[in-house]
Amino acid sequence: MVTSNRPSPRAASGIGGAPAHIPTISLTVNGEHYELEVGSRHDMIGPADTLAHTLRENLGLTGTKIGCDRGACGACTVLMDGKPILSCMTLTVECDGKRITTIEGLANRLTGQLHPVQQAFINNTAFQCGFCTPGMIVTAKALLDRNPSPSEAEIKDALAGNFCRCGSWYLVIRAVKEAAAKGGQANA
Ligand code: FES
Ligand code: FES
Repeated sequence: MVTSNRPSPRAASGIGGAPAHIPTISLTVNGEHYELEVGSRHDMIGPADTLAHTLRENLGLTGTKIGCDRGACGACTVLMDGKPILSCMTLTVECDGKRITTIEGLANRLTGQLHPVQQAFINNTAFQCGFCTPGMIVTAKALLDRNPSPSEAEIKDALAGNFCRCGSWYLVIRAVKEAAAKGGQANA
């Protein structure tokens, strides 16, 4: 169990005055490498912290949204080693050695140019409040990475776990189609 990483009170204070060993995990987020200490201090990663919490509260990456916080809405979707996952249902301590991509990591780092899926969402006004949009976009990016020319049915299937309370569905599908037509995976 990942919670076994929690340092015991004795270990945290060291034995016989020796420095305590603090467990760490390694994460690569949007190309940046992080070594995160696991423990109970406010600046550490708690054993029960979710990846969504860590991204937002420890790394300052608030583009990832938390809607339901129980795996039902898809707002918290990020990519782990290129595959969409629900970050509200993933413990950070389970992500040791993983490569995470959030909405902040999609634009070209050198030029600032938006990812084709991001640009297509803007072109098609595929959002209203925008709360679901980061999760929608990273899910669509993953789809186009593995299937550059998806059918409408495949787009709907890929986005089935991402809910939009504003009802932007048809414009989202239109945006993903446009990104695919323009080579949506090319800027990954
Ligand atoms: S916030 Fe994670 S699925 Fe809703
Ligand atoms: S744009 Fe508001 S929830 Fe989707």
